[in-house]
Amino acid sequence: MPGRSLLAIWTVCSPGASSCHFIHSSVICFTVRAFIVFLSSVLPLSVSSGTGLVFGGRAVHLALTGATGFLGSRLLLRLLLLGNEVTVLARSGPGDVRERLTLALTAMGTPREAAESLMRRQVRAVTIELSEPWLGLSTTGFTELANSLDAVWHCAGDIRLDGDLATLRVVNVEGTRRMLELADAARRRPFLYHVSTAYVAGCRREGVVREDDLSAEHGFESAYEQSKYEAECLVRAWAAERRRPAVVFRPGILLSDQPVRPGIPRHPLQYALQLARTVMVGALGMDDGAGRLRLRALGREDAMVNLLPVEWAAEAMTTLAERSPAQGAVTYHIVHPQDTPVQVMTSVFESVLGVQLDLVPAVREPNVLEQEFPRHRGFTAYLAYRRRFDDTMARRLLGPFPSPADVDANYLLRGLRTADPTPPALAPPGRDPDPLHSGSFR
Ligand SMILES: NC(=O)c1ccc[n+]([C@@H]2O[C@H](COP(=O)([O-])OP(=O)(O)OC[C@H]3O[C@@H](n4cnc5c(N)ncnc54)[C@H](OP(=O)(O)O)[C@@H]3O)[C@@H](O)[C@H]2O)c1
Repeated sequence: MPGRSLLAIWTVCSPGASSCHFIHSSVICFTVRAFIVFLSSVLPLSVSSGTGLVFGGRAVHLALTGATGFLGSRLLLRLLLLGNEVTVLARSGPGDVRERLTLALTAMGTPREAAESLMRRQVRAVTIELSEPWLGLSTTGFTELANSLDAVWHCAGDIRLDGDLATLRVVNVEGTRRMLELADAARRRPFLYHVSTAYVAGCRREGVVREDDLSAEHGFESAYEQSKYEAECLVRAWAAERRRPAVVFRPGILLSDQPVRPGIPRHPLQYALQLARTVMVGALGMDDGAGRLRLRALGREDAMVNLLPVEWAAEAMTTLAERSPAQGAVTYHIVHPQDTPVQVMTSVFESVLGVQLDLVPAVREPNVLEQEFPRHRGFTAYLAYRRRFDDTMARRLLGPFPSPADVDANYLLRGLRTADPTPPALAPPGRDPDPLHSGSFR
């Protein structure tokens, strides 16, 4: 694949790459980069007028929201390795943003020195607040930012599945409106890349959801789903009214088999495990059933869920961004080709929490734990779904592209550990309670 090998050379010779220091010749690096730019104009390299390796012979300058988050930090790494200059739009939070980003890059396996170099040479951080007019910037600052951009990646979101609609709308809907205003104000009419979710499909439990489907007719399982649906409607309307290109990505549930580390954003199943423990402590005064508790939950034994490694999702999204047509709004499902049986997921939770989890059509005479869990429908609703997300358009554009890792029980277990060198064993509750007491899942 010429695109990939050229990308590797570009990365090695990018200003931030340490190999360049070994060569000690900026002339050589400049020549190689210029050569790649030339080759990209004559080879079928994955280059378009969107974001990507080059843009009119120079690196693309793009803005990215959500870069401190679980998905956004992976997108940041991919976009930097593609040679882009990135203005990270981040809210002020605990700790220095640049340090948080460097930590996230190193947690993904980037050597500390290379991460610092990428950050120094290709990343600018601007403090924003999505809920405020002009993103909390002065009007001059807002206009200057807008005019510096070739592409806008909007990944930030409030992903609290238990959140109320009014709160979630502030970031997910109004925040998206602010980002559209930024794209509107920009002189160079940047491409917009908007991260939505496959779950805008709402309560549609069966059948096939297509990439161009967008409807509220089935209702929503959570205010989160509804707020993301409303945001996607805004993006589509904006692209149609302004005749601007917009790419909407709809990932399934993202996760990683990298263990939990302090200071590194977590994925939804890690949150779900934390929530389950909190519920158990609240209801029973203990966070571990030691294999003796039974929990019946509304669901179907043949239910399926789409779980996808986040690293693969970020690579697919940046690849699609390079290849997507430059007109109108296009939507891509970013999903695993194999849905995961919900029973695989519940077996892992059984093992980790020490409860027996049964999926049933109705829960009669619920015990104290069973009364608590349904209050968290944002997490538990998907135990009864069998729908499939069609990704024909994404696959067509990706072409031959490596498949994501299998998401099986061992993958899930790895992703629920804390950073601990001891690999846990998958054991059914009651038979081998060791993983429940090892502390490695805390
Ligand atoms: N995780 C999934 O399984 C999944 C699946 C499908 C779609 N998505 C979508 O992917 C996107 C990223 O999700 P994620 O899992 O990476 O979530 P995450 O780890 O919670 O990250 C959310 C990001 O949004 C930023 N943010 C939140 N409120 C903000 C505000 N008011 N102003 C500026 N920035 C703000 C956060 O900044 P701080 O670091 O300051 O909090 C963080 O960088 C979301 O749009 C989500 O809907 C996620």
